[in-house]
Formats: sequence, structure tokens, C-alpha cells
Amino acid sequence: MTKKRLIPRLLQLVLIIIGVYFGFILLFDVALHQIIPKSLLTMYMLFVVAGTAMVFTFTEEGAQELVGPIKALVEDPSKKMIRNVVFVIVPLLAGYYTYTSMLPSFEAPMELRTIHPAPPSKFKAFGKSYNLTTLQNPYRKFEKEDPAKFKGLVKEGGDVYIKNCQYCHGDKLDGNGPYASGLNPTPLNFQDVGTIAQLQESFLFWRISTGGPGLPQEAAPWISAMPVWQDYLTEDEIWKVILFLYNYTGRAPRSWANE
Ligand code: HEC
Repeated sequence: MTKKRLIPRLLQLVLIIIGVYFGFILLFDVALHQIIPKSLLTMYMLFVVAGTAMVFTFTEEGAQELVGPIKALVEDPSKKMIRNVVFVIVPLLAGYYTYTSMLPSFEAPMELRTIHPAPPSKFKAFGKSYNLTTLQNPYRKFEKEDPAKFKGLVKEGGDVYIKNCQYCHGDKLDGNGPYASGLNPTPLNFQDVGTIAQLQESFLFWRISTGGPGLPQEAAPWISAMPVWQDYLTEDEIWKVILFLYNYTGRAPRSWANE
């Protein structure tokens, strides 16, 4: 006959394993501020289970004490009721777990890339430094002052666009140019309310003149195909193409006034 214990050995074993399991999760969370990767946790737990089982079954007596309750459950006629319940519940739980782990997930993939990163307050292009907080489109004023002249400027911007941008951003400015399908990230759709309508003209000037390589760190990890337009266009051409983008899509640039 084995001695009576306050906590049966089998329960001790289970408690230790559960304790260590949550210990790992807590340790990672508190000490490392990270979620422990599932695969790592599984590996650690494998060692823990094997290790504790070895300690608990080190002596013949210990081993018997450990498996005692399990043996009783399977063999003892008076435990028939519990046995039947356990034998139904355990396979059901296992089946349920397998079923849910095989269901496909319809969650949207994590958004890894910041499409509109915070711009720097200053940036360099065309060999000089620009202050993004004060930078304005020098041609915007003609929209009110001289509509005829403004129309001409928009048209020149349209020419710049058709020669340079439509290959990727599309002739309808919807991001569906002939090259678009081969690119990741895809060229932006300027018709979408989420792009230029949310942005200031100075932001566009920064993005167009410095292109993909000018993107800050948080816009990584994908490399954007957006060319560095300061190498191919003049400052004026960029301001004009910006006029065209807003004019064609019928959107107004964001300004400090309507912030
Ligand atoms: C080789 C393909 C390609 C060409 C040509 C190209 N772009 Fe892009 N452009 C992209 C891609 C890809 C993105 C999206 C990734 C990014 O933000 O860099 C982008 C993004 C932009 C953005 C950022 C919009 C936003 O909401 O942040 C602007 C503005 C832009 N392009 C304007 C232009 C203009 C103007 C031209 C022509 C002078 C042009 N692009 C030509 C590929 C291209």
C-alpha cells in the first residue's frame, strides 16, 4: 500500500507541467516583452514533460504510485462510470481540437507595410534642402488667379504623366498600368480616396522626387519600384504632374487649412 499524500503524485506531475508552461509564457512576456513562439514552447515543454516524468518514475515505487490512479481508472470495476465518461470526453476533445486547428483562417493578413509613412520634416532633392512643413506647389495659386493658365499647366502635367507614369499607375490613374501586375508593392491607385486625397502636395513632391529608395524604414520591408524622379524630371515637371493627378481624379490636396 502506498502512503497517503496531500497531493497525489499524478496531480503533482500535472501541476508542475502546467506551472512550467505558464512560467515560460510569463517569463517571455515580463522579461523579454515578447510572445514566446509556439514551436519553441512546444520544444521546451517536450523536455519538461520528459524530464519530470523521469524524476517521478525514478524509483519503482514512485512509478507505481504515479500510474496507480490511471490503472485504477482503467481496471477498477467501481470506477466504471468515470471511465466511460473519460473515454468519451477525451476523444471528443481531441477531435474538436483537430477540427478547429484545420479550419482555414479568413482573417486579413497582417498589414506589414506602412503605405503612407510619416514624412521627414526636411529632405534633400535636386541638390537642395526642402522643408516639408512649409513647402507648397508654386502653381497651385493659378487655380484661382488665372484659370486659363492653370488649365495649360495641368495639361503639361498630363503630358509628363503619360510619358512617365502611366506604365505603372495606369492611364486612368487607377494603379493598373501595364507593368503593375509584376510589382509588389503595387503602384498606388490615385483614384482611391485613401491615397492623394489624404495627402498634401508637399508629401507627393517628396515621394515623387525621392521615389522608392527615399522611403523611410517603416515603409520597408518591400522594395518599391517607384523611380527616383529627381533624376529624370525637373522640379517644375513634378509640380505640374501633381496638379494633373488632383485635377484628373477630381480630388483636392490636403492642406494645413483643412487639416
Ligand atoms: C516603375 C513603376 C512606376 C512608375 C513608372 C511610377 N511609379 Fe509611382 N509608385 C510606384 C509604386 C510601386 C508605388 C507604391 C509604393 C510606394 O509608395 O513607393 C508608387 C507610389 C507613388 C506615389 C505615392 C502615393 C502615396 O499615396 O503615397 C506617388 C505620388 C507616385 N507614385 C507618383 C508617380 C508619378 C507622378 C509618376 C510619374 C512621374 C510615377 N509615380 C511613376 C511605381 C511607379
